Formats: sequence, C-alpha cells, structure tokens
Amino acid sequence: MADAKPTLPAPLVEALRRVRSAGVITGAGVSAESGVPTYRGKGGLYEEDESRIEALTGTTLRSDPDRTWRAVGDLARHAAGAVPNAAHFAIAEIERKVARFVLLTQNVDGLHQAAGSRNVIDIHGSITRTRCMACGAEGELSREELEAIHAAPRCAGCGGTLRPAAVLFGEMLPVEKVARMQRELLDDPPELVLVVGTSALFPYIVEPVLVARRARRLTVEVNPEPTVLSPVVGWFLEGSAAALVPEIAREIG
Ligand code: APR
Repeated sequence: MADAKPTLPAPLVEALRRVRSAGVITGAGVSAESGVPTYRGKGGLYEEDESRIEALTGTTLRSDPDRTWRAVGDLARHAAGAVPNAAHFAIAEIERKVARFVLLTQNVDGLHQAAGSRNVIDIHGSITRTRCMACGAEGELSREELEAIHAAPRCAGCGGTLRPAAVLFGEMLPVEKVARMQRELLDDPPELVLVVGTSALFPYIVEPVLVARRARRLTVEVNPEPTVLSPVVGWFLEGSAAALVPEIAREIG
C-alpha cells in the first residue's frame, strides 16, 4: 500500500495561506533524500569516521592541507551524482510565491541552487570554489575534479596551495554573509521562518528562529527527529523534508 500523503494541521494551513514573506533555513537533512549522507546521526559522515571533523578544521588546513582536501574530496564523492529532490524544488517554489524570500543554508552541495533557489546565503560557502592561500586568486573546480581529489590542488598562477572557499571548523563566518543574515532574517523577520533538516548546533542557525518566534512570526520545523528548536517553534512537523516541504509550499500564498 502506498504511504498516505501527509496532512498539515488545519490552523497551520490557514496561517500559511496568509504568508507573503519567507525565510527558509536548511541543513544536510534536506539533501538526505537525494542520497547525500548527513554529518551526524545514523549513517552520518562524522559517525562513520570522527577524524573527518579534525581534517576539516582551519588548523589542519594550515598544517596538512592534503589531509583537509582528502576529506573535502571525500564529501564530494559521497554527494556524487546527487540531484535535487522534492524538498529543494519546493523551497525554490516558495521563493517564487512570496514577495520577499531568503534561504540560509549550511549545505555545500549546491543542490538548492541547482533546483532554482536564487536568494541564497550559503553561510558555509562552497567546496567547488577555491582561493589561493598565497596570492588570493579565486577559482572553481568541476564536480569531477573535486571527486578525484586526494591532495591539495595548486594555484595555476603562482603555484601556491589552494583552499576550499568554505568555512572550516574553528574559522570565522564571512562578514558580508553575516551582515545579510542580520538584514534579511533578524532585523525584520519574515512572516514565515521554516527550518528543515538541521541538527541546529550553531547559534547563528538557532538565533533567527528564536528572533522570529519572539516577533510572533509563523515558525515551522521539519525533521524526522526532534532538535533543540522543536520545543521553540510554533509547529514541529515530524517527518522527512521531501514529504513535508512540498505540502507546505503548496499552501503558501
Ligand atoms: N528530512 C529532513 N531532515 C532529515 C532527514 C530528512 N529526510 N534525514 C535526516 N534529517 C535531519 C536529522 O534528523 C538531523 O537533525 O537532518 C539533520 C542533519 O544534521 P547534521 O548532520 O548535523 O547536519 P547539519 O545540521 O547541516 O550540520 C551543520 O555541521 O559539520 C558541519 O558544516 C557542516 O553544515 C554542516 C553543519
């Protein structure tokens, strides 16, 4: 028997129909149904091999960039061939339906952009973009190049070591992205703040939800497991992103 379609609670549907601005916050769980493993929890990349965390720190990048790049290549290999799922497409649909929209994602897999999301704050950056640690030149690696990487690539201009244009553990967030978060999510929170598929470990992920709740905005979380945010949000919807986010998108506007 096919699974029944999830039904959203009637008062939530009513509230979603009035929404004219939205902020969506995502983590690895939104890509789980695209076959990209999450970091934590069952089958998570860090559960499988804890040393990945150390490899992905700014300190390791400086002392042993080959090790960091092996771990980055490993992330890319786990995401190889992944395509956006129904949740990514539904988030892009929400953007088209409302007057004002922002997507804050921690993901570096590029699947939101591939699904058509436009106003994206990729707060952890991208693993396909590179920056030379010697001359600062910026570049791009193809998915195939990244999947084949087992050592730090070199700058074509000066021969220096490249780094991924991503935020590693222990590194600062990019200031201009933090300023955008402040402007687009915190100063005047959108009418809907929807958080999907993140274990919400970082304060800059939790804060916009707390601020929205305090400002009496509609706050919704989609996750198969409860998180620190579940008791805070107006609606915790227990279930998968690809099942529930399209239902939410359908009711908006
Ligand atoms: N739909 C929705 N949520 C899901 C699904 C699914 N199908 N499958 C798993 N989840 C949830 C898990 O219950 C968990 O809460 O996704 C979350 C994944 O958590 P993490 O693996 O911790 O991923 P994330 O929150 O994105 O991690 C934050 O940590 O290491 C860093 O830079 C990395 O950006 C990452 C950050």
